[in-house]
Amino acid sequence: MVKRKSCRAYTEQPVDPALLRSLLEIARWAPSGANHQPTQVAVLGPETREKLSQALLTQFDSGAAPNPDYEFCPDNWSEVYKLRRKACGKALYQSIGVALDDLENKRKHKRRNYNFFEAPLGLLILIEKGMPKGSWLDVGLFIQNLLLAAENAGLATCAQASLAEYPDVVREVLNLQNLDIVCGIALGYEDRTHPLNSYRTERESIENFTRWYD
Ligand SMILES: Cc1cc2nc3c(=O)[nH]c(=O)nc-3n(C[C@H](O)[C@H](O)[C@H](O)COP(=O)(O)O)c2cc1C
Repeated sequence: MVKRKSCRAYTEQPVDPALLRSLLEIARWAPSGANHQPTQVAVLGPETREKLSQALLTQFDSGAAPNPDYEFCPDNWSEVYKLRRKACGKALYQSIGVALDDLENKRKHKRRNYNFFEAPLGLLILIEKGMPKGSWLDVGLFIQNLLLAAENAGLATCAQASLAEYPDVVREVLNLQNLDIVCGIALGYEDRTHPLNSYRTERESIENFTRWYD
């Protein structure tokens, strides 16, 4: 859990489909309320993956406003969350020498999200439309199971809400009905030489998120 980090540059080494199956085999054991198991996964082969990336990039480049099925970074986040988000972005852009006011290069980096950071494998996490918050919580547990199973197998990952920014495009390319798009997951082997993978994000100390009673 401590070793896992988001990876944003991958080697070309492919992921053995049997290995991916073994990760899904583990992830499916995530707990869920009343064991209703709401998480659905789409594994993208090269053709669909390319088609999806192109469609998302076209959308992004057109300047279309993101229209996700759920809110991820609301404008009205409290100051403390805004500060943490800022620190997160700062560390990322610093690693590749991009200043925070360099909108052009930030945009160039952002574009790489839509091709799963060129990872050999791209997955999408889906949930039936209209499911309650509790089910989304269960999906989060499944995702973490998958990320940790991958880490344990020597693979690197990045969960990507950016791949859910234009959900209508995803639904159209993948021919999905009645499903919300939760996020993408990039999966592959870490390029350890790439500056984007050279830093770790920080975490709050226990005292900052725990209330002790009695
Ligand atoms: C649900 C979710 C969505 C995320 N979406 C993105 C994304 O679209 N692009 C990206 O570069 N990182 C994304 N991240 C990675 C976070 O920025 C990262 O988890 C956080 O900064 C903590 O760093 P760490 O994962 O390296 O520990 C996402 C993470 C989660 C859990």
